[in-house]
Amino acid sequence: MNPTIEEMQQHCSIRKFADRELETGTLKQLLLAGQAAATSSFIQATTVIQVTDLEIRSRMVDISGNQKYVRSAAEFLVFCADLQRIRHRVKALGLEAEFDWTEQFITATIDVALFAQNTVIAAESLGLGCCYIGGIRNQPEDVCQLLGLPDLVYPVFGLCIGYPAQSPGKKPRLPLPAIVHQNSYQALGDTDQSIDHYDQDVSKYYDERTAGKRKTGWSEQMMQQAERQTRSFMLNFLHKRGLLRR
Ligand SMILES: Cc1cc2nc3c(=O)[nH]c(=O)nc-3n(C[C@H](O)[C@H](O)[C@H](O)COP(=O)(O)O)c2cc1C
Repeated sequence: MNPTIEEMQQHCSIRKFADRELETGTLKQLLLAGQAAATSSFIQATTVIQVTDLEIRSRMVDISGNQKYVRSAAEFLVFCADLQRIRHRVKALGLEAEFDWTEQFITATIDVALFAQNTVIAAESLGLGCCYIGGIRNQPEDVCQLLGLPDLVYPVFGLCIGYPAQSPGKKPRLPLPAIVHQNSYQALGDTDQSIDHYDQDVSKYYDERTAGKRKTGWSEQMMQQAERQTRSFMLNFLHKRGLLRR
């Protein structure tokens, strides 16, 4: 195709980093690429906190379930959805507004994801590796306190960036015909066979990387996830931040 598409199709998360800083000015260029992403209604609702303080990094390692690469990556960024900045600006213009609609929450969160993914693509194009860290939402209140986040701002995920010290290879994705439907939603039974094959591919992927210790297919992984209570405190946390109230 072209180098951009080839690069994007080779994406894999990196969880082991070389002890090497990014070159001066690189992070700024990555963030400018991130910031160039589309933004819902021009709201630009992303705030990025660059965490250089190693004590805060260590706390983030604990919060995210002992993910050590949060400390060892050259850069660790926390991507926040931020409706406080807009509230502050419109208040200065004389308008008191709450910014607690569900739609505003969705658009702010989408903004963050697009910004971050542009940053990742830019980083990978330079030979850097990245890993998103949703694990920071294990204790979101603590993250808010550590980073001094005001109301209407919430941490969506962290992002490790650095030079890779591993090459885990591409993790197989669902077959395209199973996820791209023509004109209307395809009967799910029609895709069962191709997803059965996919489960085998995923199982092989883990088998090869764990010397046979793990062989879970994708469907089985989804079952394990569905059985877990996933961060059941989240709605309450977001309400307390002033978000998602109506
Ligand atoms: C929003 C988000 C949060 C994630 N959180 C974590 C995380 O906390 N720890 C981790 O090791 N990987 C995390 N990941 C990476 C996924 O596990 C990974 O993208 C997925 O397994 C596919 O693997 P690949 O990126 O190597 O293709 C996260 C990915 C996303 C998009």
